[in-house]
Amino acid sequence: MTVSLSGSPSAQIWQGQCAACHGAAGEGNRALGAPALTQLSADYLTRQLQHFVSGVRGAHPDDDAGKRMALSVANLSQTDIPGLAALITTELPPAQPPVTLKGDASRGEDYYVNICSACHAGNALGNDALGAPALAGVNDWYLKSSYQSYLDDIRGTHPDDFYGAQMARLAPALAKGDDIDDVIAFITTLPPRRSP
Ligand code: HEC
Ligand code: HEC
Repeated sequence: MTVSLSGSPSAQIWQGQCAACHGAAGEGNRALGAPALTQLSADYLTRQLQHFVSGVRGAHPDDDAGKRMALSVANLSQTDIPGLAALITTELPPAQPPVTLKGDASRGEDYYVNICSACHAGNALGNDALGAPALAGVNDWYLKSSYQSYLDDIRGTHPDDFYGAQMARLAPALAKGDDIDDVIAFITTLPPRRSP
């Protein structure tokens, strides 16, 4: 996808250092495991980037995707990060990732409402006050792999990962079989924060 950006320092970092994996418009690239970013909040993006840079996320030896990401942003300074988060949430066009997984959305809705909505909100747009990101508008394959990384104890285990620990404690609530596919099938029916 082509996208025209302002030429600001943040736009230069984006084009030179992020677009190769996340796509020029931040729409994500499944083959590289790099998710769509444009429907997340600036708060959440800022914290994740800080965590990748400081080794709170992406440092576990078995976290291959997280390590690729962490290596790619190791040179960012703390002052680069808010500008990048602003660029992703305001200048990049809103993504609408295609559905790639199958699941029973009506079964998933029950789980979502009972377990996930308390933090991620009923509309799956997230709740910054609780540190919980938007799940609507994120690639379904990434929702699955990131959920699995909490179950496998490769994300959310760093002692400074306050919010990650909350998600990691909750993840076993859905450990069984197809439950997560059903929940994700439901999430993909919900409209994202910015309409494409
Ligand atoms: C080498 C490929 C690569 C490059 C370059 C890269 N990323 Fe990533 N990024 C990834 C992968 C892979 C993940 C998923 C990590 C995971 O599965 O935990 C990711 C995850 C993220 C996340 C977390 C998303 C979430 O929902 O938690 C953010 C934010 C992010 N990248 C922003 C950036 C920015 C900004 C840049 C440029 C400064 C960048 N990335 C450069 C591969 C890359
Ligand atoms: C107790 C609050 C809480 C509950 C309940 C909860 N989550 Fe989370 N979840 C979080 C927080 C906080 C984060 C962000 C952690 C971080 O900052 O790394 C998160 C992160 C995630 C992520 C990673 C998203 C990304 O962009 O990388 C996924 C996927 C996820 N949650 C799915 C779910 C699902 C599905 C449920 C219900 C089965 C659920 N969560 C229930 C708090 C919660």
